[in-house]
Amino acid sequence: MNSLHPGDRIHLVSRKGRRYSIVLQKGGVFQFSGERLSHDDLIGQPEGVSVRTSRGTHFIALRPTLAEYVLKMPRGAQVIYPKDLGLILMWADIYPGAKVLEAGIGSGALTMALLRSVGEKGSVISYDVREDFAKRAEENINQLMGPVSNLVVRLKNIYEGIEDGPVDRLVLDLPEPWLVVPHAVSALRPGGVFLCLLPTVPQVQQVVAALRAEKSFGFIETFETLLRTWNIDGRSVRPDHRMVAHSAFLTVARRIMPHETT
Ligand SMILES: C[S@@+](CC[C@H](N)C(=O)[O-])C[C@H]1O[C@@H](n2cnc3c(N)ncnc32)[C@H](O)[C@@H]1O
Repeated sequence: MNSLHPGDRIHLVSRKGRRYSIVLQKGGVFQFSGERLSHDDLIGQPEGVSVRTSRGTHFIALRPTLAEYVLKMPRGAQVIYPKDLGLILMWADIYPGAKVLEAGIGSGALTMALLRSVGEKGSVISYDVREDFAKRAEENINQLMGPVSNLVVRLKNIYEGIEDGPVDRLVLDLPEPWLVVPHAVSALRPGGVFLCLLPTVPQVQQVVAALRAEKSFGFIETFETLLRTWNIDGRSVRPDHRMVAHSAFLTVARRIMPHETT
């Protein structure tokens, strides 16, 4: 049985779906609107256990999935939404054993998704210019994944160059990825994938123009994804009223060998 241990980060989920993130400690107490729940009532119990607070409020205790964790973890920078994390892994073709360079690390949401996909034989190198963000990201990563030996974090401005090539995949979540495109030509191995995530159309236009200008990139595509959840309750079967209508556009390109034009 995969029981809950001291040190585990868990989510207490209420009947209405509200989530409270806690780290289990022997003798610890979760306090909620004047109600109390002893951590000792959870330690040793299986995941998914139902518990009641001192006044009878009901919660289910679960270790969060990666998608749940990134939405609740402490943030330095804005995190990438789970719907985009899933898409990035597929469209950047992150595979076990890949060497992936990412910038910036932000809060570490994408880093964790990349680390899971490259596995122990792969590696992730993350650049960020902000020491406070890098520190926060590393704390978030350690909290979920424990010590990670195949992640290298560099305090470095990627617009000034890339020192870790050749890499198999380059994944960018920062404001001016077009400034990275010239460095990507030498840092990304032939056949490698360039992917960037941008919130606005003018930024997308600028990165696509930079990729086209280099002649070492082909198969350039831009797309977005909309995720609409549904209410399924008796005869009320319809889309939910609220959704995240926009997060980001993804632009993907393959590193190719430049061809002669006549
Ligand atoms: C939106 S956040 C990244 C969020 C991250 N992908 C996540 O999922 O948590 C953008 C990050 O890029 C970093 N950044 C901005 N310009 C940079 C540069 N020139 N080189 C490296 N990092 C940079 C910022 O400090 C910030 O941490």
